[in-house]
Amino acid sequence: MKRAFILGTGSCLPARKLTNFDLEKMVETSDEWITTRTGIHTRRISGPGEENYLLAASAARRALRNAEVKPRDLDMIVVATMTPHMIMPSCACFVQAEIGASQAFAYDLNAACSGFLYGLDLVDKYIVSRPEMKILLIGSETLSARVNWQDRNTCILFGDGAGASVLSGGGKGSGVVDADLRSDGRLWNLLYMHSPASRNPDLEQNCHDCCYIQMTGRDVFKHAVKAMEGSVQELLRRNGLTIHDIALMIPHQANIRILHKLMERLGVAEEKVYVNVDKYGNTSAASIPIALDEAHRQGMIRRGDLLLFCSFGGGFTWGSMLMHW
Ligand code: UT7
Repeated sequence: MKRAFILGTGSCLPARKLTNFDLEKMVETSDEWITTRTGIHTRRISGPGEENYLLAASAARRALRNAEVKPRDLDMIVVATMTPHMIMPSCACFVQAEIGASQAFAYDLNAACSGFLYGLDLVDKYIVSRPEMKILLIGSETLSARVNWQDRNTCILFGDGAGASVLSGGGKGSGVVDADLRSDGRLWNLLYMHSPASRNPDLEQNCHDCCYIQMTGRDVFKHAVKAMEGSVQELLRRNGLTIHDIALMIPHQANIRILHKLMERLGVAEEKVYVNVDKYGNTSAASIPIALDEAHRQGMIRRGDLLLFCSFGGGFTWGSMLMHW
């Protein structure tokens, strides 16, 4: 049975950097607080010409070049996002038009920060039934448009960007090995963002604030560490592996302290974990594909390496995946 295998990767970050020192002038915060509590130094903020679908299309073009696949040879495009350019049409349809992927069907997927991981699992299911398919999977976000720039609890955390992968059926023993995906909708109100003109009765009192990302940070932190650790341990156990079998771990990038706690609990060496939260902050569904593309371009991944992805986000949604490069 052929599994989803990554043929090429690409990413695109907006040009504008917003530093912690810039944020000191906007809200009551300090570079010292942000650095020690989150590990973030800068994040990218999109401007005109850097709308979500344009970042996504640019990451896609790079991934297609890297994979040596032509846009017209794509069968399917999935964009994982919670900040689409419009509610309808999907970001994926905009990308399809932008890159000229005339044969591809296209749609979006929303699983917050776990979107790319859920997308990889979805793509794997298509590939298992039709291994010749060529699929473009993108994680792309413009979170800066959905952040309350007066709320220091959240505005320091997030950034914009896009990452893309082109996938098809791999050879024997390559590609996706297994995935463990989870959700718990009961905890939705610890991390959420509402649509601007919502009629949801739960949110009537505070609707203005609800348009922005709302988070009870400390609780999300605790759940994130516990949930990702549990998922990774279960996935390794189920596949008869230990953490020492992993060549590189690419986790969702939300907070360096979450990553350090996760490394400690899993007993994984720091040099085996890709980290770029310092440069880009939390880019939600884009964080794993951006990190994957950087690790790939830096030559950190070799054929046959066993990769481990894990994520946690609003919903709650979380999970982990094993993949042979
Ligand atoms: O993508 C997945 C979802 N997101 C996450 O995984 C994020 C999870 N959470 C976190 O990363 C952390 O909880 C935060 C970075 C958001 C916050 O760090 P914390 O260590 O949990 O701080 P806290 O929320 O407990 O706040 C501690 C103090 C508070 O003051 P008091 O009440 O102790 O006087 C906050 O008001 O820090 C204050 N604070 C700030 N101070 C300076 C909160 N934000 C800031 C700020 N600058 N930007």
